[in-house]
Amino acid sequence: MCGIVGYVGDRPCRDLLIAGLEKLEYRGYDSAGVSVITDGEIDSVRAVGNLANLREAIDEHGGDGGDGGVAVAAPPATIGVAHTRWATHGRVTEENAHPHGDCADKIHIVLTGIVENHAELRKELEAEGHTFSSETDAEIVSHLIERHYKDDLAAAVRGAFAELRGHYAFVAMHLDQRDTLVAARKECPLIVGLGSDENFVASAIPAFLAETRRVLMVENGEIVTITPDGAEITDADGNPISREEDEVTWDEDAAEKGGYPTFMKKEIHEQADAVAETITDRLSGLDSVDLSGVDLDDEFLRTADRLMIVACGTSYHAGLVGRYAIEQWARVPVGIDIASEYRYRDPVSRPNDLVIGITQSGETADTLAAMRLAGEGGSKVLAITNIMGSQATRDADAVLFTRAGLEIGVAATKTFTSQVAAMYLLALRLAELRGTMPPERIAELIAAIKGLPSKIDETLAKVDKRAAAIARTHKDQRFFLYLGRHIGLPICLEGALKLKEISYIPADAYAAGEMKHGPIALLDEDTPVVCVATDSPVLDKVLSNVEEVRARGADVIAVATEGSDRVAEVADQTLFVPRTDWMLQPILAILPLQLLAYYIARENGLNVDQPRNLAKTVTVE
Ligand code: F6R
Repeated sequence: MCGIVGYVGDRPCRDLLIAGLEKLEYRGYDSAGVSVITDGEIDSVRAVGNLANLREAIDEHGGDGGDGGVAVAAPPATIGVAHTRWATHGRVTEENAHPHGDCADKIHIVLTGIVENHAELRKELEAEGHTFSSETDAEIVSHLIERHYKDDLAAAVRGAFAELRGHYAFVAMHLDQRDTLVAARKECPLIVGLGSDENFVASAIPAFLAETRRVLMVENGEIVTITPDGAEITDADGNPISREEDEVTWDEDAAEKGGYPTFMKKEIHEQADAVAETITDRLSGLDSVDLSGVDLDDEFLRTADRLMIVACGTSYHAGLVGRYAIEQWARVPVGIDIASEYRYRDPVSRPNDLVIGITQSGETADTLAAMRLAGEGGSKVLAITNIMGSQATRDADAVLFTRAGLEIGVAATKTFTSQVAAMYLLALRLAELRGTMPPERIAELIAAIKGLPSKIDETLAKVDKRAAAIARTHKDQRFFLYLGRHIGLPICLEGALKLKEISYIPADAYAAGEMKHGPIALLDEDTPVVCVATDSPVLDKVLSNVEEVRARGADVIAVATEGSDRVAEVADQTLFVPRTDWMLQPILAILPLQLLAYYIARENGLNVDQPRNLAKTVTVE
């Protein structure tokens, strides 16, 4: 989740750009950089680590001269671009930090998102004589613009844009056009901030909100040329598009939350992006999964005897979904345990086992201890984490990063769906290496996984109001029971956990087949039962459990696959999610349950971002 900011106007811009980056820090980053056009050259400084490191690097580079120019001798620079990088392609190094330049160092770009066809384009450009100085996908863009540049930056950006695949937004500047920034949007957000004799462009409004509240929203597939006098939007062919400006009415606090009332709501709505970032470059082929960034030997994956997952809380639930996928697709036995249980039960871990520690923070003490214990037993340890440089990344033999961006709300939402997506990738890679699924089925699943980000957005748009309405009628309930089978069960566990932790309402989640072994005694007219009844080979069984529940007068709230009228007929309220491959339904089915918990807590006036007694990371044993 990189952050980008650009400025063109009449003020010294370096500090404005860095102030903009500070407002994007919440997205998480591992390096940063800034480029400005000074007298006759582009002056660029990049640094690994936080913005303090970038400031230090700027001082070492030549100080600020108090004028906003990067070098002491330079006149004040009034045009520039800046970036916070969250590494995806290429390690965390100064060379890989943005901005990136072309061969002549006349074009600099900053990019957020992922260029999917970077490998082919790099080959082509290298064959034409372009030389690259980083391992990133982003650097392709500056060289592509160079390839198309005659004397019009906007035309060159359009030329480059036509050749790029992926989801990204970028801003470019050219030394010979010192009053022009050109930015392009493919999926990833891009917003222009309109000032007087100056304009901004950024990946999020907080980057310039201290300077202006007048904005132009750039839509998907559009290119915008920004000068001190204004901003002109065109489509990808250069046809002008007129756009009304908007006024941002949020205060600083709301701005940080992207206009959402809480971080949790914002993060729920960031899930399409988080999943896209996690999967896109790893699924850039049509029929195979690329886990080359993960330090795991193919031969080991092909021959490992057993997998063991250790995790806590929400991460444990993601592991449960992963187990179904791995066992079904790759036919490897998978054990799973709560990390705080595993570490104290004298577990058997063997050299030919792969132990997977799932921890979004990478700092959860029990998960780290379980991973270490497994490593001491000789197993290979893979960490699935969201945080670069976290302890889990240092302890593990290999790391598979989720790329959800920083999660501020204590209740995990976007990190959960990203973890599930990462587990799908691992399961598919294992299936591929072990030859346990026909290539056509793998290709089908890859296509379905690629479609998940847009289905996530579709689901949220469809279920939001309905979840809010159900929450209003159920906010005073004293207890909720969640029931599901197979992949629906971890979603029930996760839905119940969300409700408990943010609304403080007792909830239990059960395997539906276990009902008759005791919990059915809990049911009466006052017990709402949340059922995950998405399409699957066990749907009939789930439906007969729903009938049992209804027979006791309980109110049934079901999550079902669109078009599944059978569920709607037996449930009192149904939250429909779009159809996808049934094994992938968990990633959609959790969304209405996150929203339901969210709205129940909000109806009760609770602080969903910081629930009582809970911290984001549990680092003490
Ligand atoms: C629940 C939640 C926790 C975490 C758990 C593990 O919303 O956030 O249950 O999932 O504390 O944390 P990580 O994944 O950082 O190890």
